[in-house]
Amino acid sequence: MDRVVNETLRMFPIAPFVARQTSKVVELDGKHIPSGTVLFLNFVGVHRSPKYHQDPLTFDPDRFLPDRAAAMHPYSFLPFSSGSRNCIGQPLAWMMVKTLLASILKTYQIRRNKVKRNTSDSISIQYGQEYFVINTIEGLA
Ligand code: HEM
Repeated sequence: MDRVVNETLRMFPIAPFVARQTSKVVELDGKHIPSGTVLFLNFVGVHRSPKYHQDPLTFDPDRFLPDRAAAMHPYSFLPFSSGSRNCIGQPLAWMMVKTLLASILKTYQIRRNKVKRNTSDSISIQYGQEYFVINTIEGLA
């Protein structure tokens, strides 16, 4: 479950970018950024960059297997930001996401399908060329 959540946060980060204001002149790539400039840090761009992630637009939870995750650049995956102002709610967020996911999986069956299937007991959500068909396990009331 951790791998699936991490891969979801990589492709669809809840905070796709953060902003920071410089408090002094910063040199970046040979350019001098004046003090007081607001910089937008493009996390989703890093998450989807082929420079940091192989085949970045493919949903592949196995890229978070321990060996592969250890080989990732330390700043190539930033769903909770990093450094001294990173997310202090991260442990709680993980508990909430897992609890929610467990209750969804307990209540619904989710399958991939090539065709849309909206019936009285199921709905389809499109993702790319495919659909996710969602049924309640007990059947809809
Ligand atoms: C999946 C859920 C969450 C994600 C993806 C997330 C992500 C982030 C990110 C990217 C930042 C940095 C924002 C910035 O610097 O501009 C942040 C900061 C923060 N988050 Fe979260 N967050 C989540 C859930 C939570 C929860 C549940 C709490 C509290 C109960 C929380 C509390 C905070 C606080 C207080 C900060 C500011 C920390 C600081 O500036 O020192 N977050 N979060």
